[in-house]
Amino acid sequence: MTRATLLTITVPTGEPATGDPGFALADFDAAQVRITDLGITRGDGVFETIAVIDGHPQALGPHLMRLAHSAELLDLPEPAEHVWHEAVLAGVADYQARNGDGGELFAKLIYTRGVEGTGRPSGWIFVDQGEDFTQQRLGLKVVTLDRGLRHDVAETSPWLLAGAKSLSYAVNRAAQREAARRGADDVIFISSDGFALEGPTSNVIVLADGVVRTPQTDQGILAGTTQAAVFAFFAERGYPTEYRHITAEELAAADALWLVSSVRQAGPITHLDGREYPVDAALTADLNRYLLSRTH
Ligand SMILES: Cc1ncc(COP(=O)(O)O)c(C=O)c1O
Repeated sequence: MTRATLLTITVPTGEPATGDPGFALADFDAAQVRITDLGITRGDGVFETIAVIDGHPQALGPHLMRLAHSAELLDLPEPAEHVWHEAVLAGVADYQARNGDGGELFAKLIYTRGVEGTGRPSGWIFVDQGEDFTQQRLGLKVVTLDRGLRHDVAETSPWLLAGAKSLSYAVNRAAQREAARRGADDVIFISSDGFALEGPTSNVIVLADGVVRTPQTDQGILAGTTQAAVFAFFAERGYPTEYRHITAEELAAADALWLVSSVRQAGPITHLDGREYPVDAALTADLNRYLLSRTH
């Protein structure tokens, strides 16, 4: 029997009627989405992926805020925060009731413009077991790739939706395949004017001269929920933390680098464009223990 849990969000926006939770359990193995849903035909929608560790959805509030922010960038109606929140909890509870505690799970939230012509958005959530990220938490070979957009693209060309977690991730997947062709595991995008941005599914953490930095989020990149927790980890240990513009040269000159994201958590970079970087294995293990122990 399929392990994954699926919930359709019957009231993805607005207020459900009294007594209606606004979501319903659905058959993961049955067809649920109309082929004319604009999420399918145009990639017109937004999503979030949330780590669920020992039954705790991590950073649920920040993920829902980001879902709402992405929806706003796409001119989609505001998602019904309470409905989505309760649906995640119900999905996790159903998964655990059928499969046991499950260790590392994820919840994926999809919110689309809906079936063409209806003007009604669609939404669904599924909960399943995460991949095994053991190896990635030990070391990653990364290449930089030109994103082909300036760092100020969000301001100059908001219709490009840089900084929205849109369903149109084909470009991000293509970048990851390019990394594989170059013998690497992952990517850091560089803006066409030379600033370090983010990975196709991650944020970058840069340690240099004792300061922990990440690229400022006004550069058409996502504000990472994991990155925020990583800053809290380092701040508790006395490191100054800073958001700022980081040039490709500064990135290359870093003392240590990590890619961080929900579900994977923190992967230390062993190689960037072929250059080797030292990995503090104890610090990274400590960081991942901290990230995995989050209960909210
Ligand atoms: C483009 C991009 N940047 C950054 C992130 C990291 O965000 P988070 O740590 O909230 O998962 C993701 C997550 O998948 C992403 O797709």
